[in-house]
Amino acid sequence: MCKKCYVTTPIYYASGKVQIGNTYTTVACDTFARFNRQMGRNTFYLTGMDEHGQKIEEAAIKANMTPQAFVDKVAAETKELWKVMKINYDGFIRTTDKHHEEIVARVFERLLANDDIYLGTYSGNYCVSCETFFTKSQLGENDTCPDCGKPTKVVSEESYFLRLKKYATQLLTYIKEHPNFICPETRRNEVISFIESGLEDLCVSRTSFNWGIKVPSNPKHIIYVWIDALFNYLTALGYDTKENQLYKDFWLNNNRIYHVVGKDILRFHAIYWPIMLMALDIPIRFKLIVHGWILTKEGKMSKSRGNAVYPMDLISRYGVDAVRYYLVKELPLGNDGLFSYERFVERYNYELANDLGNLVSRSISMINKYCDGIVPSNQLPTSVLDESLAKFANETITKTIQCFEQFKLQDGIGETWQLIRRVNKYIDETAPWVLAKDQSKKIDLDSVMYHLAEALRVIAILIAPYLVDTSNKILQALNQTNTNMRLDQLQFGEKFSNEKVFLKENLFQRLDMEKELEYFASQKQNEIKEKLESNTVKVKIGIEDFNKISLVVGEIIECKKHQNANKLLVSKVKIGQEIRQIVSGIANFYHPDELIGKKVIVVENLAPSKIRGVESQGMLLCATDQDKLELVEVRNLPCGSIVR
Ligand code: MSP
Repeated sequence: MCKKCYVTTPIYYASGKVQIGNTYTTVACDTFARFNRQMGRNTFYLTGMDEHGQKIEEAAIKANMTPQAFVDKVAAETKELWKVMKINYDGFIRTTDKHHEEIVARVFERLLANDDIYLGTYSGNYCVSCETFFTKSQLGENDTCPDCGKPTKVVSEESYFLRLKKYATQLLTYIKEHPNFICPETRRNEVISFIESGLEDLCVSRTSFNWGIKVPSNPKHIIYVWIDALFNYLTALGYDTKENQLYKDFWLNNNRIYHVVGKDILRFHAIYWPIMLMALDIPIRFKLIVHGWILTKEGKMSKSRGNAVYPMDLISRYGVDAVRYYLVKELPLGNDGLFSYERFVERYNYELANDLGNLVSRSISMINKYCDGIVPSNQLPTSVLDESLAKFANETITKTIQCFEQFKLQDGIGETWQLIRRVNKYIDETAPWVLAKDQSKKIDLDSVMYHLAEALRVIAILIAPYLVDTSNKILQALNQTNTNMRLDQLQFGEKFSNEKVFLKENLFQRLDMEKELEYFASQKQNEIKEKLESNTVKVKIGIEDFNKISLVVGEIIECKKHQNANKLLVSKVKIGQEIRQIVSGIANFYHPDELIGKKVIVVENLAPSKIRGVESQGMLLCATDQDKLELVEVRNLPCGSIVR
């Protein structure tokens, strides 16, 4: 049997722009799929878009578009992003694809005919103005709507239900008999205790909106978006159609099927999905790999919290590889990771520019200097140091593969970096510049140059799944364009061609942390400004909203530059008897000394926050016009006066 592999990412909600957090799954899966191809496996990597449901219908209305036009636009943008990010997928499924819709409708009817789905009554607390049901735990005080605060009422609605209870024992047995089904173990245990606490049948149809697949025999019902979405893993392979070769190859006759998902969607994949497969007599062949979240310092990334980071903003400044590298390196399997600009720049400088970039440029320039650009033969006599390097490299290949096989991408990268650091040390130990001074050491010097070039080749192949461009650049610099990229055949000791090595430019330029952080701070300010401007035009607020803001006159009694940011000033402002510290982005417009004694308007009840490490307890009002800015001032009234 030919070695095969099927890797899937959860399909993205087509409700808006993909941010860096949910880019993680795709980059990690692409890395994993590339690794499997390097291991000689015929690999099918699937990604796509989840395009039905109320959330998307609402987003389309907001954008003044039809749902179909809306999802077409988001799908096109997402595909474009994946192209830029070098996501090498084999299938891109959209749940609005005709063949997907047809199969899901058929499968639903089949489950209904077998009595695994039945018609019942859903009863819950319903908010009429939001047109939404809420569970008891979601409700506000006195059963009010958590969104609009109005009272909800208990309403019953005809709905279809999937029999989960019927399959609970069978699923538990399956999980217990297949210890590797859900990975890591903590997630497996979570699922077991959830099932053991008792499963309720799942409501799998809605009648309150239109954008979805209709139940053919009862078209006022729309199939629940999760039933629709989970089937993508099979409809993409042609399951239940005449063209089902992919299904046969990659599902029925394949032992390497990986669904990689974030922890938030564990239950859907570990409970509903296998139960549907059991009900349909489809073998459960997949392994579930559950990863954590990329968090920011303020918690989970979200557009509404204003802490979302978008991949293109980073890619346009640092290139694709740096972003791919950060993401796959950040999450240990199963746990959460962090995104911060400081950490991004730090990792770029230490790991990419210093460790890897420097190693490559040092090595290539020494081969040019000492060997006229030609990598010496692989048959030279070797020293103890050379041999120990070759051994280390071969061990690293084995260890990296072992980690990647288990989806421990972070650990695998860590192993490869041990080798990169080992090679840097090897240069210091062998001191080629000393050998070069002694003609009788020419063979030793050549051997060192060969070992350096060969170590770079090994490293380039090991990093190829995630540092796609960098790997190519290193191999090109070594004139190894037709190299065998197979990891399962990789060994230290290859012979090089007689063409000259040549590195066009350094792989990664070291970054100035201060400059980069300032750049991002100004980007953020622009974003906030744009948001404010667009809000000013669009949103009307009532006087009760305006009254929430407390504005008072304050006098600046001290002012100095912010120690970590050129654009910021830190002022001490007197408001009545109280003195507040306020950080403002006005250093390009005012010298600290000229502010002393000014009476300005302070937003007094703004929640304190840290700006580049300094606490700010309010905000000074300014007027701006394009690139001009002035503080709003008061002349005759005392500080503490109320502004309204
Ligand atoms: N449409 C569903 C999946 C259906 S699969 C049959 C969905 N989409 S999503 O767009 O919300 O999320 C896609 C993936 O991104 C999920 O695996 C989710 O866990 C992951 N992430 C979303 N935010 C994330 C982070 N901040 N960090 C890491 N991954 C996160 O769920």
